Amino acid sequence: MTTLAFCNQKGGSTKTATTVGLTSALSEAGKRVLVVDLDPQANSTTGMGLDPDAVEYGANDVLAETVTLDAAVTPASADWPGVSLLAGHRLLANRESDAAMDIHYRLRNALAEAQGEWEHILVDTSPFVGRLMANGLAAAQRVVIPTDATADGARGVESIIESVSMARRSFNEGLEIAAIVIGRRERAGEQDFRENELRGRYEALVAKTVIPKRAAVADAHGLAVPIHQLKGKGPLAISSAYRDLALELELL
Ligand SMILES: Nc1ncnc2c1ncn2[C@@H]1O[C@H](COP(=O)(O)OP(=O)(O)O)[C@@H](O)[C@H]1O
Ligand SMILES: [Mg+2]
Repeated sequence: MTTLAFCNQKGGSTKTATTVGLTSALSEAGKRVLVVDLDPQANSTTGMGLDPDAVEYGANDVLAETVTLDAAVTPASADWPGVSLLAGHRLLANRESDAAMDIHYRLRNALAEAQGEWEHILVDTSPFVGRLMANGLAAAQRVVIPTDATADGARGVESIIESVSMARRSFNEGLEIAAIVIGRRERAGEQDFRENELRGRYEALVAKTVIPKRAAVADAHGLAVPIHQLKGKGPLAISSAYRDLALELELL
């Protein structure tokens, strides 16, 4: 069982799309996956067909220690075989001011006690370097850093790598960076330059697989279905890219 956290404090850096896209590839391959949505915006929860307000318990209740993780986990919608969710909710934002001494370790502790059997646990995090992200970084063995191929994206990668180093020093010594993933690649010269720059700087840490920019990502998200269920060239390009990424990350 591997736990991966998808982190980047830059908003819109494709954390959720990468989490949901990989989950789609893993579900298609018959894997049992738990998605933990640590973002108060709860986009991965809605993207897998659950209404955060309609779910009885979720990540906020587990981090507040009102329920166990096993009791709070919910199956994703029927379109997502094998996928369970620890749902996000806007009230998760309250955990950022939770003064409990062990607040950073609540997800890690809850996962350690859970009986559920998942092959992979994917933790989508919020674009804020705080207690929610720390829960992801403390619970994970590996971090995936999604980014776009822009100058702002490159700066975001630099900052999140510093946060990962800090997490290693303070609470998770063995934490590895699995990959930096270019998650929304446009066919523009400027992005060729930025991609080369990222590869020059971070070398093998940058995943070989690049996710192209396609409208299908937002379409699948809006319909709350796995991308491979949609027909056409765009969805096919995206679903095969996430399958390649899952292979490259050794999740398949
Ligand atoms: N490969 C892609 N092609 C086109 N749009 C994408 C792609 N990946 C993500 N997006 C869009 O980019 C926006 C930000 O992505 P998202 O995953 O929500 O970022 P984050 O979770 O880091 O804030 C969303 O509107 C999403 O639909
Ligand atoms: Mg997100």
